[in-house]
Amino acid sequence: MQIPILDLKAQLAQYREDALAAITRVVDSQSLILGAEVRAFEADLAHYMALDHGVGVSSGTDALLVALMALDIGPGDVVLTTPFSFFATAGVIARLGATPRFVDIDPVSFNLTEAGVRAALADDVRAIIPVHLFGQMADLGGLHAERGAPPIVEDAAQALGATLRGRMSGHHGVCTCISFYPTKNLGAFGDAGAVVTADAMFAEKLRMLRVHGSKPKYHHHVVGGNFRLDAIQAAVLAVKLPLLDGWAAGRAKNAARYAALFAEAGLVERGLVTPPEAVVDGQHVWNQYVIRAARRDDLRAHLAARGVGTMVYYPGPLHLQPCFAELGYARGDFPVAEKACAEVLALPIQPELGPDALATVVREIRGFYGV
Ligand SMILES: Cc1ncc(COP(=O)(O)O)c(C=O)c1O
Repeated sequence: MQIPILDLKAQLAQYREDALAAITRVVDSQSLILGAEVRAFEADLAHYMALDHGVGVSSGTDALLVALMALDIGPGDVVLTTPFSFFATAGVIARLGATPRFVDIDPVSFNLTEAGVRAALADDVRAIIPVHLFGQMADLGGLHAERGAPPIVEDAAQALGATLRGRMSGHHGVCTCISFYPTKNLGAFGDAGAVVTADAMFAEKLRMLRVHGSKPKYHHHVVGGNFRLDAIQAAVLAVKLPLLDGWAAGRAKNAARYAALFAEAGLVERGLVTPPEAVVDGQHVWNQYVIRAARRDDLRAHLAARGVGTMVYYPGPLHLQPCFAELGYARGDFPVAEKACAEVLALPIQPELGPDALATVVREIRGFYGV
């Protein structure tokens, strides 16, 4: 039995006909960039998140970039973020000439904490990017609503649909940034992203920035970029959005199954496998199911040889990336993030996987540890 980390084809039958019909509609319209399809999806997305304004953009990376641009982040500014995320989170800060300043994470949620962020607040901090990693929201308490606190840009690339105290991302900051990269819970047929916000003025600025800062056309008030969303992507995403909550429920079911299988096998009590936990008050959407494993790299090779796909998100922390050498960080600066990089392993969790597949994954893990 081959069990890849993610098999997008396994899900395709559920929406294939509708997606092809939507694509045909766009092809026949020849309205290919922004336009009515994008506006319709933006409205659906904002409605889903109980926010007023959705702004479709070209990728999750560009969502973060354009959000920071709308906050006028630039040289001399510091943005607090996590060292344990996909590179884009910190990359966009550096691309604007600002400085990423990292704050260590919580060992259980893998996310920034309110205490950690508060301890790092300083006069030069102009924004904060918490990442809702693996599908679980980072909880910065009431910081976003505090007078004088830097604006919070939520990186919900992996967490569309997740909640914290009953509210989705975008309600805990000035905006939320979503990725529709195909491996996300809501994946496009290519690159796509969105910024969603409650703030009408902020949304207006985002809309201007995504078309080179022009409004009306050929009048440029600020320097923006080409961060536009394609109509084909928007039309496909509109077809898939109504299926998202069902998929998240299937992922949650599989997460619970894994936890029970690991406990039954004695892998947890022996300290060989630490399953992930949903620890915040809210809904985890399980974009990734990430365990900590003893002898992680050997386990990974063992599983690969037996047809079980895994991934390491992330093998190296952001503060030790060569491109950030001039920031002056050293190994040992963020021990929790560094330890996570050495231990984490993502297992297949997509909702189409049934109990037999999960049992096979856990059986192969038991085989490796000999328990
Ligand atoms: C946490 C996080 N932030 C940002 C991004 C960037 O999104 P994209 O790949 O759509 O540019 C991703 C995903 O790739 C991500 O996982």
